[in-house]
Amino acid sequence: MDREKKYKKTILIESDDDVALKDAAEHLRNGEVIGFPTETVYGLGCDAGNGEAVKKVFEAKGRPADNPLICHIGDKDQIKDIVSEITPLAQTLIDAFMPGPITIVMKKADSISDETTAGLDTVGVRMPSHPVANKFLKYCGVPVAAPSANLSGRPSPTGARSVLEDMDGYIYAIIDGGDSEFGLESTVVDCTGTDPVILRPGAVTKADIDSVLKNKEAVMAGSLSGKEAPRSPGMKYRHYAPYAQVEIMEMPEGTKITGDDAIGTDGKIADAKFTIEDLKKLSDDEAKELVNIASPFILRSRELLSKNPFTRIGLYCGSEIKAVYDKLNDKILSAHTEFCVYGKTVDVSCASHGLFEGLRFLDVQEVDVILAQGFNGEGLSVAYMNRLGKAAGKKEELTPGMPAPARPARTPLPIDAFKDTFTGSVLFVDDNNISLSACCEALMRRMLEKNEPYISNSEADTGFEIYCESAGLTAMDGLDPDSQMDKAVRELTGLGLCSIESRRANPAIYDCNDLILTVRDEQAFAIIKAFPEIKDKVFSLSTFAAANGLVMKDSSGRVMSISVPDPSGENYETYLHTAKALNAWLEILFPYILKDLGASRV
Ligand code: TXA
Ligand code: MG
Repeated sequence: MDREKKYKKTILIESDDDVALKDAAEHLRNGEVIGFPTETVYGLGCDAGNGEAVKKVFEAKGRPADNPLICHIGDKDQIKDIVSEITPLAQTLIDAFMPGPITIVMKKADSISDETTAGLDTVGVRMPSHPVANKFLKYCGVPVAAPSANLSGRPSPTGARSVLEDMDGYIYAIIDGGDSEFGLESTVVDCTGTDPVILRPGAVTKADIDSVLKNKEAVMAGSLSGKEAPRSPGMKYRHYAPYAQVEIMEMPEGTKITGDDAIGTDGKIADAKFTIEDLKKLSDDEAKELVNIASPFILRSRELLSKNPFTRIGLYCGSEIKAVYDKLNDKILSAHTEFCVYGKTVDVSCASHGLFEGLRFLDVQEVDVILAQGFNGEGLSVAYMNRLGKAAGKKEELTPGMPAPARPARTPLPIDAFKDTFTGSVLFVDDNNISLSACCEALMRRMLEKNEPYISNSEADTGFEIYCESAGLTAMDGLDPDSQMDKAVRELTGLGLCSIESRRANPAIYDCNDLILTVRDEQAFAIIKAFPEIKDKVFSLSTFAAANGLVMKDSSGRVMSISVPDPSGENYETYLHTAKALNAWLEILFPYILKDLGASRV
């Protein structure tokens, strides 16, 4: 389905701005689409009685129109206007779990447009418990049809920024209600028959439902067999998929899982810091259990790297696993690993809460593979594994659905969105600083701008500004850059070297930089020889690649090092070729440079 931007910018509304909330509700009643927070995930809401508005939602999501939307309400009294009958079974579940993370499927009333239910004669009804959702839905007054606010096929958004990432320009406004508490979508229960059928597992578990039923049990919807129409049409499509390949790392049998019956966390990822120091305090049994949980991550990572030394691996894991990695102190393994830590390793409630944002975060780091912690428990583990299984492409129960969407452009955050900012800087060095190192500086600046903003890897909620400069070992100060190189860089990036003046490298310049990269090996050796105390931050492009395990081979399988001949005195084509080669190398090294500085994209 074609997506077309409708707005220059989507308005971001603060949840305590009552005037803006009422304005958003009015726009919704007038046929606009509004992103809003709920305790499960963010929704993309519109008037459920307005077929044209529903079409806009499908368009903004890029979702096939045969997948019905859930009707959201702010008041239980609205249910009777949406459904034709409330069976005693439905009533029991409404009384027990609404408001909360559950959607109850009932026979629909005529007032709900066919577009909302994709032509089905049933409708899913949900009353969120999130206070902002509740207030907004009350202001709307009409039933609000809303799917999760992600681009179809992508992980559902559990924060306003992720909604903006997928929807900026496609919808009128987004209400920012902070992090979603559960992080997984509601439990969908079909109550049109005699026994409830769980179509999609969620935070309201089978055990929760069974506990309020007399003489019956909820049924888990089984796999879709043959040509049988799916009962919950959404189940046949590719879902929750990040761009990277996801693999599940099994939790060893018998591991005691916590947070499994979580009806409610505190809405935040637990601040479970766990360090190498804490590792030492573990008893032998605890340490053994931890190693058993960590081993699949480590073994699989090493296997991936031995197959391809360029593999970039994302880990969705607990804080103890990261501590085990830190203790291993395997430089190459760490250089290739990006962490997203959800909290305590065995806490499935934290893992659920952070899953979708974690997949999105690791995607932004452009990892190739995501290794994610699996849980083998009951309750919430079932919902977590259901989503993770789909993200991992474990689609036995699915018929072929949508192809993976292209990576959309990211929405940069202003740096003042963070409570604090760190800085880091990289210096490029060659001999004269009028050609190659200046070219590296200009190219790196473009890359840095393109990938902004950054966050600190060591400190939560802290932005990271990255600077880049260049200098020459034997340079004269104040010379203009080589005009041929200037032209080549301009042809390559649209911007030349104009603002870069040559200067002589010196200890003060080395001091201000956290990473020093020379164009040729001899230049790095010369710096280290003169200033051995800074050897840990000085590399040539080639030794930096090697230090990160990047073994490059040419077409005949020979190991190559990065060599960049000086194009001085050659023709323009040679300059252009050199600039292109440097650009290609820097693009390969870019994620490792970020990692070395202690920053991640966000
Ligand atoms: O937590 C949630 O449920 C979130 C928030 C925004 O409320 N919403 C959500 O909506 O996840 P969506 O559209 O992404 O997923 C709704 C699921 C789909 O799998 C859909 O097929 C199923 O519910 N569904 C909706 N109406 C149905 C119906 N009448 N019969 C069977 N399944 C239905
Ligand atoms: Mg969805």
